[in-house]
Amino acid sequence: MAINIHTSHRLLLALSAGTYLILVYLCAVWPAMVEQTAMEALPRPDHGELVARGREVYKSFNCVTCHTQQIRGDARRAYAVDDRVVVPVLEADARFGREVATRAEEYAWQDPVFMGTQRIGPDLSSTGRRLPESQWHYWHLYDPKSVSPGSVMPPHRFLFTSKEPSGDTSAYHEEVIVIAGLGVQGDRLWATPDAVALVEYILSLNREFLEVEGLGR
Ligand code: HEC
Repeated sequence: MAINIHTSHRLLLALSAGTYLILVYLCAVWPAMVEQTAMEALPRPDHGELVARGREVYKSFNCVTCHTQQIRGDARRAYAVDDRVVVPVLEADARFGREVATRAEEYAWQDPVFMGTQRIGPDLSSTGRRLPESQWHYWHLYDPKSVSPGSVMPPHRFLFTSKEPSGDTSAYHEEVIVIAGLGVQGDRLWATPDAVALVEYILSLNREFLEVEGLGR
């Protein structure tokens, strides 16, 4: 007796389950494996523990709601270098100080990825290079308007303390923070370990490895 797909429930079940599994493999498992192999071939940037902690602070304060870390490219002006395609920055994104658009490799090993979707504030993917002074960032976190007049970024004063830390102070920012233009000049403030880590993280956003690749920034 010939097996008829219309009458054999076993065949029907086996066929649909088989099709489902093949589709899952083709659409999800296989691409994920390809991506993973490609990522593992890339160097794993190691900025150290402090930057890793700063990344967690960045995540916990949801800085990503106002800041992107992705520079858009203008595909019409793309050109090839060896076997790679280089996409110059879209004119609207040129103010963030990069010459080439963000590439997928830059997000390798990041979890979660802070690409962001909204730019209430500027893109931060090259901030470490544009604003390399840690002091600027401490001022800015404490009172954004003090260094960036008219800023709508919320102050993060809870990341500072005026109480001199006791015991092991190595995780605190050693420098006395004097906030300019606030009428509190001379006040001694200490950046908490979270603030120190956050600033280290911001400064690590400089895409140095792109220059090593010789593909422009
Ligand atoms: C409500 C939106 C908002 C949030 C949330 C926010 N920012 Fe901002 N940020 C801004 C705006 C607007 C600016 C531009 C004005 C300025 O420089 O203060 C800015 C500027 C900056 C700059 C200077 C960047 C540059 O290249 O000029 C840094 C660094 C920064 N923010 C870091 C952070 C960090 C870290 C957090 C989380 C702790 C954060 N921001 C949260 C809105 C925000």
